[in-house]
Amino acid sequence: MADPNARDVKLIQYLNEAYGKEKQLETSLQAHISMTTRPPYKKRLQQHLKETKAHGRQVERRIKKLGGKADAGPLPGGSAVAEVADAAQTVVRKGAALAQGPVHAVRGTGEQEKLLKNAKTEYQDEAEEIATYTAIETLADTVGDKETAQLAKGIRREEERMAKFLEKQIPMLTKAVAQDEIPAELRSSSSSRRRSSSRSSSSSRSSSSRGSSSRGSSSRSAGSRTSASKGSSSRGGSSRGRSASSKSSGGSSSSRSGSRSGGGRSSGSRARSSR
Ligand SMILES: [Fe+2]
Repeated sequence: MADPNARDVKLIQYLNEAYGKEKQLETSLQAHISMTTRPPYKKRLQQHLKETKAHGRQVERRIKKLGGKADAGPLPGGSAVAEVADAAQTVVRKGAALAQGPVHAVRGTGEQEKLLKNAKTEYQDEAEEIATYTAIETLADTVGDKETAQLAKGIRREEERMAKFLEKQIPMLTKAVAQDEIPAELRSSSSSRRRSSSRSSSSSRSSSSRGSSSRGSSSRSAGSRTSASKGSSSRGGSSRGRSASSKSSGGSSSSRSGSRSGGGRSSGSRARSSR
């Protein structure tokens, strides 16, 4: 194949950045899997490791098709400086991934916190990958390379699904840290403080069943909210149900909250009571 043109050199460069990241994540995901004790989380990491390996292979294939060479090696047609910089980057990446495993094994004050810190790192990595594939897709679209754009889009969607999973995992892991490290009597007050701050769903409900309930039910709001939204019983399920219900009730109460914000809370409740 002839030397790639300027367009393909740029595509190859971006694809190689993605390739390097995938290779780095293979190593760190393997380390995190071996440290993870929670079965559903571990299973999802294993699934994402498979996806990550597949991403690496797909990107490598595309790089070759464009006339480049994967493994973040010297770029064909690139300048000597670019080649040296690229090689240095590869070394740094591999070193970082190798160093991460043992470092991550000793992070945090306890088992659960270690998992939480790993999840935060994984989330950060997913965000970087999403950004990388968004850039690749945009560049490919801009220069009319449909195949690369399609590839980047497909991979980005898998990274987004993983990011969403981690987004839900992080609160669960944080709760597990609190349960492990903070005495129950100190936990309950902080959690009721948090609940009372998410006022939207309870206020929307109190307007339909207005009257006495508001204060008395606030301590039990999470439970009643869960049952109201047909919450599932598992821990993950209930937190998901709760966030979904608070989101949807936020939407449905928007017209009412408009009047509330317009006239202040007291006039809003006065308006309601006059109805
Ligand atoms: Fe990936």
